Amino acid sequence: MRLHINIDHVATLRNARGTKYPDPVAAARMCLAAGAHGITAHIREDRRHIKDDDVARLKAELAGAALFNLEMAATDEMVAIARRTMPDVVTLVPERREERTTEGGLEVARSAPALSRHLALLKGAGIKVSLFIAPDLEQVRASHALGVEQIELHTGEYAHEKAGELDRLREAARVGHELGLEIAAGHGLTTENVPALMAIPEIVELNIGHAVVADAVFMGIGEATKAMLAAMKKGRAA
Ligand code: PXP
Repeated sequence: MRLHINIDHVATLRNARGTKYPDPVAAARMCLAAGAHGITAHIREDRRHIKDDDVARLKAELAGAALFNLEMAATDEMVAIARRTMPDVVTLVPERREERTTEGGLEVARSAPALSRHLALLKGAGIKVSLFIAPDLEQVRASHALGVEQIELHTGEYAHEKAGELDRLREAARVGHELGLEIAAGHGLTTENVPALMAIPEIVELNIGHAVVADAVFMGIGEATKAMLAAMKKGRAA
């Protein structure tokens, strides 16, 4: 079971004042020291949190030390950044400029031709690709058909306590795993809602940002990382 901390909102806080602090790279270092297995960052088209320089510094910091998962929209600009930076994993996400955060998953079946062109460029560079999708069997099957290694199931609706969502996640994870896909999950996860999610054995990776950075305000990012790891362990043991 892997925990990747998404450090975007350390950069959000920094950018609110245009200062150099708090530094997301320093935060990444502390998360790893506390036991996180990797770092996730989302470079958005509008650069509202993570900036190009952060991506380059994260790569330098993490190279050979921990996994670097770079989230991005499937666009020519972003794929070129990935091919220059060479993160370990690229997670392709849908992106709309006006959204507050990533709302919903990729429409894989509908955008298969465009996605497969970007996928070929990323795979050609030797980068593992994960697709961020809703826990929907049509999307799971379309992701498999496209030839990716991993899917990340969107847990936003689960975090909003939508009825039946845990069952949808369980079924999507089971079918994805059966097809040979590696199963990650993320969005809106907290120490409160992670234990129940961990009852799904096929999920081997979580990408968590907002709640960890929020907890870090009160306990520091190292302790917040440890608390999330403990919540994961509690759920797996149950
Ligand atoms: N996974 C993906 C693909 C995301 O886009 C995000 C948000 O950037 C996260 C995980 C982390 O979500 P949260 O900040 O709500 O923990």
